Amino acid sequence: MKTQVGIIGAGPAGLLLAEMLHRAGIESVVLEKKSRDYVLSRIRAGVLEPTTVDVLRENGLGERMDREGHAHDGMRIVWAGRESYLIDVRKVVGKQFVAYGQTNLQEDLFAAADKRGQRIITDVDDVTPVDIGTDRPFVSFGSEKLHCDFVAGCDGFHGVSRRSMPAGVLREYEKVYPFGWLGILSETPPLPEIVYANHPRGFALASQRNPQLSRYYLQVPLHAQIEDWPDERFWGEIKSRYPKDLADAIVTGPSIEKSIAPLRSYVAEPMQHGRLFLAGDAAHIVPPTGAKGLNLAVSDVYYLARALTDFYRAGSRQLLDAYSKTALRRVWASVRISWYLTMLLHRFPDASEFDQRAQEYELEYIRSSPHAQAALAEQYAGLPL
Ligand code: FAD
Ligand code: PHB
Repeated sequence: MKTQVGIIGAGPAGLLLAEMLHRAGIESVVLEKKSRDYVLSRIRAGVLEPTTVDVLRENGLGERMDREGHAHDGMRIVWAGRESYLIDVRKVVGKQFVAYGQTNLQEDLFAAADKRGQRIITDVDDVTPVDIGTDRPFVSFGSEKLHCDFVAGCDGFHGVSRRSMPAGVLREYEKVYPFGWLGILSETPPLPEIVYANHPRGFALASQRNPQLSRYYLQVPLHAQIEDWPDERFWGEIKSRYPKDLADAIVTGPSIEKSIAPLRSYVAEPMQHGRLFLAGDAAHIVPPTGAKGLNLAVSDVYYLARALTDFYRAGSRQLLDAYSKTALRRVWASVRISWYLTMLLHRFPDASEFDQRAQEYELEYIRSSPHAQAALAEQYAGLPL
């Protein structure tokens, strides 16, 4: 088989890249390890930053998002039973966030791919990028070979692309956090806003998918087991971490999904070697505080599609050569703000009394300072492209 760009992974990064390349007249083939049903059943991110919303609209993916997504102005923070405050992104950057589940976006991306006749091969085994340091790379899978000009590694954190770079090429930066997030999805009306809570019992988050579908998260110890968290215990714990007015407004009901995710910050540099380019979780991971993961996948793909388009249209390698540096600027901005929000909003089991007082002072400072709120809003919004 032969194509111009071989794309590994049919997550948001891989499918969006295929869409953007198609719009530029560039052919691609997507290779995905799992089945389409499996990819569509993954419950993950839920908040799109203004830049992501723009990119999706510009690429014909805005229709359902604009119809079903919930636009909102920013993040609300509440702590220690005090009055909550809004980090108002619209006031600072003039644009809104949209709550729209990754599951829906993934459906939209597959629908658009089907419409244009995109070649997506699912359930493939043993995918391996080969000869990426030469001008004739290929991707082997099963007993086949996909010959291509470039390979895009969009295969997530546990994918094969990053690991196939030669030893010594990558520099890795990592931080793991001493807790996880227990998340549930429930067919109940959500709170009207996304509210992050810092409470002596730990972090909590109230989010949403649509007017009848809520998403909630709790900070739990690393060793927590789902079996130990029946719905009743989950709801009791959520309510205990919010002040009374918000706790009373939370509508409880049976969960339809429940999972635990560890928290980690990770960046691999550079995001390119020879003809292999990494995009999305394949190159970096952020803790979910701040909801940046999916948004970073979109911005990486934006830069990569632009660079490949410039190569095929103008014969220039300039943007391709600059890809890693260009993408990493935005990556580090989001890695930093996700780390900062994680440190600000969670209770750390090993925190000293000094650490705890400093965290509380910081929350109080942000609450009382319009300047601090504006700085946080600007970073939470994400850098412009
Ligand atoms: P992925 O979505 O991981 O897609 C990679 C694709 O590659 C997958 O379909 C995978 O099956 C495929 N693949 C893997 N290995 C191979 C291989 N060897 N060959 C072929 N295909 C392969 N972000 C937020 O902003 N908010 C959240 O609440 C949130 N929750 C999350 C919960 C979980 C459990 C996880 C894992 C992530 C979460 N994220 C969240 C992060 C967000 O979902 C990711 O940043 C986003 O999915 C990145 O998209 P991607 O396309 O780069 O990677
Ligand atoms: C979500 O709705 O899944 C969500 C929202 C905000 C976050 C993380 C996840 O910071």
